[in-house]
Amino acid sequence: MLVLGLESSCDETAAAVVEDGCRALSDVVASQVDVHARFGGVVPELASRRHIANVVPVVDAALADAGVSLDDIDGIAVTRGPGLVGALLVALQTAKAMAYARGLPLVGVHHLEGHLTAIDLEPPPHPPFPHLALLVSGGHTSIIRVDGRGALVELGATRDDAAGEAFDKVAKMLGLGYPGGVQIDRLARGGDPTGVPMPRLMAKAETGYDFSFSGVKTAVLNWLRDHGVPSGQALADLCASFQATVVEVLVRKTRQAVADTGLTAVQLAGGVAANSALRAALRAAGAEDGFDVFIPSPGRCTDNAAMIAAAGYHKLVAGERAPLDLNATASLRLPAP
Ligand code: KG4
Ligand code: ZN
Repeated sequence: MLVLGLESSCDETAAAVVEDGCRALSDVVASQVDVHARFGGVVPELASRRHIANVVPVVDAALADAGVSLDDIDGIAVTRGPGLVGALLVALQTAKAMAYARGLPLVGVHHLEGHLTAIDLEPPPHPPFPHLALLVSGGHTSIIRVDGRGALVELGATRDDAAGEAFDKVAKMLGLGYPGGVQIDRLARGGDPTGVPMPRLMAKAETGYDFSFSGVKTAVLNWLRDHGVPSGQALADLCASFQATVVEVLVRKTRQAVADTGLTAVQLAGGVAANSALRAALRAAGAEDGFDVFIPSPGRCTDNAAMIAAAGYHKLVAGERAPLDLNATASLRLPAP
């Protein structure tokens, strides 16, 4: 079964063709980094406009790369939220128009469910159900119990910034450009993670599986006020110290969730799952505590449409169909326990 996936929830316009929910025949992502870089973050209105310009060429490229035409497609899957509403609507309206014109079945996919399905596009083994997921992206930081296909329960989430947002804001303070996560990751490799003292996040008021990243952001801001923006080794040390603090809290809470639930498999997903220190630290924790760790390849951690098509495949097979008045929902929540 061939599913065409479309995604435009933030600043990537993406389309992909996926076979049977696990083989990406194409995976096209048009980045808007050039549009938003000088603002140090995504400008929603500019994102929507660029999505409109990109969406048809990106769909055409996804079909061409897969060596198929719309006649070969069996169903369409599109992100319905959460995200920037004006951005979401572009892929959503395009998907609905194609489904209507071609008489194809359509399903709407929760963006986070897409991230949690990216692992299916990797070679086996895949995480068994139920398992835990640490989902870390530019918009979300959550610990999720994945009971089955589409059966997600959010055990905890960030109370302020998402992990990726904290990376991007700190990178902006350091003049590293947007998106900054990947720059901090690169610079941190040559730095001392104990070089700059950082607060131990959420140490005082342990709050279940919730996160807060405002403290570490303020610590960086205060350090910059006292020392100015560093360069060379001092910059690497600051990046490594900030990154180690974020990674420590993410891994600590995940270990706690594993211990509390008794689950033995954890998947790491979302854009920040591309971070080399986080990948290594979670794998090390799994080896020490005896849980299996599943992480998509770095390119499949950030936003793409193959993960949306893979998640949509299971909905289509289950007979799910979205009506043509399907709407975008900017703040689509996951169920709580
Ligand atoms: O999942 P994603 O592509 O978009 C959202 O759904 O938000 O995640 C984007 C986020 C950005 O904040 C970006 O800085 C971060 O993922 N990111 C990283 C790395 N690569 C991407 N953060 C830390 N280290 C990385 N290597
Ligand atoms: Zn995402």
